[in-house]
Amino acid sequence: MPLCLLSASVAGTASVAGTASAAEVAAVLQPRLTFAPDGLRAAEAAAQAEAAGSGVAAWQAVARTVTALQRLDCGHDAGVDGVTTAKEAELLNATEAILDAAAGGEPLAMSALGHMYLLGDPCSPKRNLTWATHWLEGAAAAGQPSALAMLGFLNESRALSRVYNFSYATPAALTARYPPAGGGAYAQGRALYEAALTSGGSVLASLALGSQYSNGFAGVAASCPAAAAHYEAAAAGAMAQLDEKRQRTVEQGWLDSSSEARTLLRKQPAAARESGVDPASVEYMDYCAHVGDVAGQVGMAHLYHSGTHGVPRDTAAAAHWFAAAAAKGDPMGHANLGLVRLRAGDGAGALPPLRRAAKRSDPSGWAGLGYAYYYGLGVRQDYALAAKALSAAARLGHLDAIFNLGVLALRGEGMEQSLHKAERFWRVAADFSHPMAQYYIGRMKARGLGTRRDCETALFFLQHAAAAWPAGNGLLETGLAAHEADRPQRALVHYLLGAHAGLEPALHNAGFLYAEAMPRRQPQLAASYRGAASEYFRRAAVLGSVDASIRLALVLSQDLTAEHSASSWRLANELYAEAARHGSADATWHLGYNYLKGRPEKLLFSLLRAVYEARVFIVFAALGSFVLATGGKRAPGFGAGAAATAVWHEDDDAAADDFDEFDD
Ligand SMILES: *[C@@H]1O[C@H](CO)[C@@H](O)[C@H](O)[C@H]1NC(C)=O
Ligand SMILES: *[C@@H]1O[C@H](CO)[C@@H](O)[C@H](O)[C@H]1NC(C)=O
Ligand SMILES: *[C@@H]1O[C@H](CO)[C@@H](O)[C@H](O)[C@H]1NC(C)=O
Ligand SMILES: *[C@@H]1O[C@H](CO)[C@@H](O)[C@H](O)[C@H]1NC(C)=O
Repeated sequence: MPLCLLSASVAGTASVAGTASAAEVAAVLQPRLTFAPDGLRAAEAAAQAEAAGSGVAAWQAVARTVTALQRLDCGHDAGVDGVTTAKEAELLNATEAILDAAAGGEPLAMSALGHMYLLGDPCSPKRNLTWATHWLEGAAAAGQPSALAMLGFLNESRALSRVYNFSYATPAALTARYPPAGGGAYAQGRALYEAALTSGGSVLASLALGSQYSNGFAGVAASCPAAAAHYEAAAAGAMAQLDEKRQRTVEQGWLDSSSEARTLLRKQPAAARESGVDPASVEYMDYCAHVGDVAGQVGMAHLYHSGTHGVPRDTAAAAHWFAAAAAKGDPMGHANLGLVRLRAGDGAGALPPLRRAAKRSDPSGWAGLGYAYYYGLGVRQDYALAAKALSAAARLGHLDAIFNLGVLALRGEGMEQSLHKAERFWRVAADFSHPMAQYYIGRMKARGLGTRRDCETALFFLQHAAAAWPAGNGLLETGLAAHEADRPQRALVHYLLGAHAGLEPALHNAGFLYAEAMPRRQPQLAASYRGAASEYFRRAAVLGSVDASIRLALVLSQDLTAEHSASSWRLANELYAEAARHGSADATWHLGYNYLKGRPEKLLFSLLRAVYEARVFIVFAALGSFVLATGGKRAPGFGAGAAATAVWHEDDDAAADDFDEFDD
């Protein structure tokens, strides 16, 4: 049996092998409910900072500044007519604070500044690669893990010279300190990623190494145990970031930005951005809310609560609009009003609206009641009633409730302690893409915690959990926005970052931009871009993207200059044949085209090819209008929507939705 040993970088987890009891597993996993009142969270965070030592507080202050800076929405009204808006002032303050800290040698500030100069986000200082590498190297010399990971990426991807024609090579001091083990073009990058892991950890580095080991990319031999260990570390980091992001949603639902993970096509209309949450739509929603439209009120309340899309974060305004919707008898208004109050620790105020929502069979209302009983907010603490309320929510399809029931089962709170039951709850939640459930299942499988040790299954779940990494979605989002704004270099750098973290859409899109956009910018480098394109398409194809193997074949069959043209040609046809076996009509078409190319029929086929490509455009346009037509129905970006299809059936507990027990 292969030993799925996990590296020491996974913090404080003894490996309990074989048949562990539920209590032992609970001690290793330390699972917690997805919902906690703010006061409890703050106290826990303070205790953690205390335990970790005094340096942490200062570090966290800088991290908060950086995060605040990244969150600033400096899109629309920045710098109009030289008037300094409050936001700009805040931005200037934050930038100055970071500059001061960096000049004073604070590694995190140097690293943040390096990232900003490199990626050139709208809110940050203008892109300047000289400054970017200067600050990143300074931070790396001080052992800052994100800077080490970024320099590893720059070495591995050769992005600066390829994308920006900027001459940069990893400095000798760094290669001497982190010498590459073994040979190959990727060894130095890998050494820097490893350095990032040993000096504190970096999700980017863990993902990059995990994807190398799981697929045997970049000259390493594929290894499930090594890949699972890296993905576990990545997933742990992703969970922490996700938790922070969930603080901004009422119920900490899972934010879903899958629309950004699209693959780029040659002819493609601009996307209908995120189900219409542009400024004009927000204005319209605000108008609807004011004239008494319930959906508008709930929508505005969510925007005020999360403080996104140009709406300032304002809990009081959120509560106001939820209350307005509740006054119209809307169960979502009741449930969310209750949850907002519960988060603030106001149990007495939270219970009446939660009860009203539960009475109207609102899943979030039931979940909120469950949390109130679990923490004893406004009622006497009662784990059994908490479990009953959560069961009712779970039966109505509330994904978080299903996950939380698993936590209760493992801890034996409100029900008999049972490892088997916990695993069953989590398995259902994991199958419906609950990242936390995927993370726990993956860790149990990797260690054989109360279940058979199974590296492949562990890797599968840990990879999915790690893919919930919010920053990864951010990269795809920025890449897409830059592509649509016709800024291929900016798009490419973001997609390359995602690609080296092993995200399939990013691999495909990096290949696409190398194949299509970059040669148009710099025709003299077309051959080198083609090489890069085929490498990224190949990696995406290995991850199972049929689309990418077709693209790879296209790139290879364009390669007529190289002396390998015969072998490229053969490989291209093999790829098409493989894709055709997977049922791709496009591939069959290309296959036929390649066989006939060079014959008199060529002209006819060139015409057909033009028609074919127009067809892609038409199909896409139809798809776009479909999204436009249906997208408006969904409230923007709240996790509960994603849970709507998951339903938990527990027959032996059928009395739980008997409401009387929960009434006043
Ligand atoms: C910027 O900093 C100054 C002084 O440090 C402070 O008075 C001012 O309120 C800050 N402005 C913002 C928007 O935070
Ligand atoms: C970057 O900053 C350096 C030093 O201030 C300056 O000489 C250079 O022109 C800048 N580069 C760009 C592209 O702005
Ligand atoms: C890259 O930059 C160098 C000098 O900075 C220049 O000579 C060369 O032509 C550039 N190459 C491309 C493809 O732009
Ligand atoms: C990556 O590292 C190798 C070995 O140290 C070096 O030769 C190469 O120039 C580096 N590449 C980049 C883009 O920094």
